Amino acid sequence: MRVQLTRHLACVKHHEGKRNLSIDTLESNGGNECTEGFLKCEECDQIYPVIDGNAILLENVAEYVSSRPTLLGKWILSSKTAAVKEYLKELSSTLIKPNKSQENNLYEVDGPLYETYNWAQFDFDSDDRFLSLMKHKLYPNDLYNKVVHSTATNLDGAALDLGCSSGFAAFQLAKKFAFVIGVDLSFSFISEARRRMVSLRQGNLDFIVADCLRPPFLPNKFDLVIALNIIELMDVEQLLDRIHKLLKEDAEVAFSSPYDYNRTQLGSRVNPQSFRQLLQKSGFRVETRYVTGESFIPWTLKINNRTYLFYYVDYLRARKASKTKR
Ligand SMILES: C[S@@+](CC[C@H](N)C(=O)[O-])C[C@H]1O[C@@H](n2cnc3c(N)ncnc32)[C@H](O)[C@@H]1O
Repeated sequence: MRVQLTRHLACVKHHEGKRNLSIDTLESNGGNECTEGFLKCEECDQIYPVIDGNAILLENVAEYVSSRPTLLGKWILSSKTAAVKEYLKELSSTLIKPNKSQENNLYEVDGPLYETYNWAQFDFDSDDRFLSLMKHKLYPNDLYNKVVHSTATNLDGAALDLGCSSGFAAFQLAKKFAFVIGVDLSFSFISEARRRMVSLRQGNLDFIVADCLRPPFLPNKFDLVIALNIIELMDVEQLLDRIHKLLKEDAEVAFSSPYDYNRTQLGSRVNPQSFRQLLQKSGFRVETRYVTGESFIPWTLKINNRTYLFYYVDYLRARKASKTKR
């Protein structure tokens, strides 16, 4: 992570008020990049590791690696400094055995959906069997481009991409905002997004491992939050609460969703109408053009050479309406 990112981060254990982090860089690439080290909360002494350049802003890292069995071994092997090796070894003695439903490697490098999102965002080619069948050209990343094109440029502003996966939308947003942060729970996606960031030498964005429902930022920080295709994967009411806190007054949030609950077993479900109502109830003002008409934007995911998912996703934007959530 870039050392300067530290001033944008806050301890996830404190929901309100200023709880800033300090950084102890143990290994760097010579520039302003911390490749290994720890972030620490000045107030409660909670520490967050930085491993292979990726900051992990999670309250319970042991629980996180317990549900991603191969990750900890890789981290131990690749860590360079004695302090981080020691921390990881201690972590390995506190692992818990996850039950089947807690196993969470769908979006890690050895999981079934890792290549799927890299494909949809960066790696597809138009000779692809399915794409070349289409009468009209179909680009899997059209959705992300549409979201970014319908966003006004704000060269003083900060934007946040929640559940960014390998970061395509965040990279595009960085052309319109002063600073962009992408967060995702998948260490593999964050590593991949950071690898691209470094090779593109893009200086005004960064990516961290964090939970959208425990975002490591101070309130009223962002001019734009985007949350694309994630509402079915978590408690949507909690997500709206967190986004409401993160946005500045009258700032904007953009959502897209296929409302595909076949992928998850979460209790609370929304559809285009109930989601709009929930947004109003949660202190947002749905922008006029999105109030009544749901949209149908093509979005294609390649599961493997013989299986594709084709969705029409809904896309809508809203603004934070009141300081205190109604
Ligand atoms: C369906 S994919 C969508 C990715 C991307 N937004 C897109 O539209 O291509 C969901 C992403 O959200 C991430 N994710 C799921 N739950 C999360 C959480 N609680 N906090 C952060 N990221 C999460 C997954 O790791 C995955 O990368």
